[in-house]
Amino acid sequence: METDSISQQKLSKTEKKLRQKQMKARHTLFRHEGIECVSYPTKSLVIANGGLGNGVSRCQLLCVVEECGLVEALLMPPNKPYSFVTFGRTEDSKRAHDSLNGKEIMLEDSGQNVVLYFNFVEKVPWEDMMPTALPPGLKIIEDLVSPEEERQLLESIDWAEDESIPTAQQSLKHRRVKHFGYEFRYDNNNVDRDRPLPGGLPDICNTLLAKCLKMGYIKEKPDQLTINQYEPGQGIPPHIDTHSAFEDEIIALSLGAEIVMDFKHPDGHVAGIMLPQRSLLVMSGESRYLWTHGITPRKFDIIQASEVQKVRAVTADIGDLTLNKRRERTSFTFRKVRRSPCNCSYPSVCDSQREDTAPSFPINEREASKLEEKYVHEVYEGIATHFSSTRHSPWPRVVEFLRGLPCGAVVADVGCGNGKYLGVSKDLYTFGCDRSMTLMDICGEKGFQAFVCDALCVPLRSGSCDACISIAVIHHFSTVVATYWNISN
Ligand SMILES: C[S@@+](CC[C@H](N)C(=O)[O-])C[C@H]1O[C@@H](n2cnc3c(N)ncnc32)[C@H](O)[C@@H]1O
Ligand SMILES: [Zn+2]
Repeated sequence: METDSISQQKLSKTEKKLRQKQMKARHTLFRHEGIECVSYPTKSLVIANGGLGNGVSRCQLLCVVEECGLVEALLMPPNKPYSFVTFGRTEDSKRAHDSLNGKEIMLEDSGQNVVLYFNFVEKVPWEDMMPTALPPGLKIIEDLVSPEEERQLLESIDWAEDESIPTAQQSLKHRRVKHFGYEFRYDNNNVDRDRPLPGGLPDICNTLLAKCLKMGYIKEKPDQLTINQYEPGQGIPPHIDTHSAFEDEIIALSLGAEIVMDFKHPDGHVAGIMLPQRSLLVMSGESRYLWTHGITPRKFDIIQASEVQKVRAVTADIGDLTLNKRRERTSFTFRKVRRSPCNCSYPSVCDSQREDTAPSFPINEREASKLEEKYVHEVYEGIATHFSSTRHSPWPRVVEFLRGLPCGAVVADVGCGNGKYLGVSKDLYTFGCDRSMTLMDICGEKGFQAFVCDALCVPLRSGSCDACISIAVIHHFSTVVATYWNISN
């Protein structure tokens, strides 16, 4: 009798905790996602923690919810940590709500456990989560090459070091890369037009390029090829291929495996596009010039559950998404090197149409002095007080030098700033000078001897000091001699 009541007490304690967690999930969903839950039974439930975003697969979740009745729809929004399930009957969803809340499932990928929390919703926000068609100008041609051609293309790649073109092949942090025709340089994201690589494009690509031209997928024959090999978990950061480097059409063949490529418009619109194995991606116009594309480094992709091979924007039918394990994928990206500036309709992202704001070198001492005035002296004058408050720790080697000087030595600190070295040793006669009036005032307030002057024209007789320091000053000079310009002259 006694044990019974204890266990009942325990049960209600766990039950209470569960209810609290359920409420917490409800609040989080509302606060972070604007999802409103209701306290009365409806046909639909939101399942907190049961999302593609935290590694739950569609299959796994379906198995769990189907225990409670006939499921009408399971909506798994991409990258979100929750899902929505709609049952045919309210009593089934009520059963799921009551019996599955707090259910623990083990993630297939990591082996970790997640706990699911169920709450009723009046409305499943299908429409809000229905994004995007394909980015304009983007095409995907399925089965461009046969499995046999795929095998031959993959076998043709010699990843071994090629001595004749040592820089043409690079092992980037994120993937293996090889270039043909022209080397793509990752330092300036461009190609060196005057230095084509010997050998041009591999002959094995001729057939498929001829097919692309014949079918009208491209208008001009490409002269540059980059082969990338991605292991599961590897990716490529979002980027737009440099406009000035390549012509409009860029094509990429996916071999060995399918992958999801993420496209993003500058307004924030995103589209995950499934690139099936052996398909050709054609990027032209807006999708080539304006949208970034990249591959998120991860081991699973979120894809259409019904047909792995189906080409479409992955986000277009989110009632049918699941996780797909990545395999090694090799891409052949063909581009045509551009020989004249790009005149696309997207100047905001076009390097050919960007105004030249690169700083130019001053043509004479007067110009140089003006630059120094603006970018050094005005700046120090403006920041003097703050600068002074951040400069209190003298550099140890400088202190060592000063303390090594004989007692009574006369020492000048040229460009002394707030005078942080002027008080280092009581045995020395130190004084400072600097171009900044405010910093010299600060030195004065500290009781140091200091005056305003230019370091290139110090009003001291030669041989009048025993030692001189000038710390972190010389890099500011833009002229050989100090030049004071009377602007009205
Ligand atoms: C980085 S701070 C170094 C200050 C000080 N020597 C220290 O180590 O804390 C550079 C200093 O050089 C001064 N300076 C820059 N160009 C100068 C010039 N032509 N003549 C005199 N002082 C100059 C600036 O006003 C500033 O106080
Ligand atoms: Zn452009």
